[in-house]
Amino acid sequence: MKRIIAGNWKMNLGPNQARVFLSELTKQDLSKKAEWVVFPPFVSLAETQKALTGTSISWGAQNAYPAEKGAFTGEVAVPMLIDLGCRYLLIGHSERRQFFGETNDSCALKVQTAQAFGLIPMLCVGETLAQRDSNATQEVVTEQLEKGLSEAHKDKPLTIAYEPVWAIGTGKVATPEQAQSVHLAIRKVLERLLGPAKAKETAILYGGSVKADNAAELAKQADINGFLVGGASLEPKSFAQIGSVPL
Ligand code: PGA
Repeated sequence: MKRIIAGNWKMNLGPNQARVFLSELTKQDLSKKAEWVVFPPFVSLAETQKALTGTSISWGAQNAYPAEKGAFTGEVAVPMLIDLGCRYLLIGHSERRQFFGETNDSCALKVQTAQAFGLIPMLCVGETLAQRDSNATQEVVTEQLEKGLSEAHKDKPLTIAYEPVWAIGTGKVATPEQAQSVHLAIRKVLERLLGPAKAKETAILYGGSVKADNAAELAKQADINGFLVGGASLEPKSFAQIGSVPL
């Protein structure tokens, strides 16, 4: 399977900054062994479409509302994102769960809607430090997958990002062994929920303080199929370097 290296810009890089950033990014020597994806904020998607159409870099949105259209002031619908050339939809990032009331049930609706209109969901799962310390990691991640994928379509593409909450933006990256053991557990849950073939072809990305200097060891793990990168994705060179590790 082709690895995915995705950059989650979070609430950074408005349209003007995005234009400058993407013009730098397209000049980098991006490994052809990976699929490169950026997740800009909504307001920068049109600029992203302009800059990346015709390149090999894909893009997606950080959130969407799970309805086709209607009276939902302030929200953005999946067909609008398709209109902007998006290929992926980030769902259930821990910041959305923590600050914006995202639940496993709302994730399930978003996964269903994304797939129905042809976006590839990237469902984020991961435990907090307290959950890890109380040995609940597997239980938490299993529940996030069981509920979040309850409406998922087996025959449509899907990706998962494992992001331990304690590793996001903290500089504390999971060890390759810690990450691999959760990725393997995720693969097994996917087998049970969606069947062995789907589990095998579903990319499971690791996220949480990924940088060029820790990506190489993580990338060697059998069940790590790419990275979801926050901070280090905001600088074109450091983002590109993450893909220079042997993939
Ligand atoms: P980080 O963020 O790489 O800055 O830890 C990852 C993420 O939140 O997706």
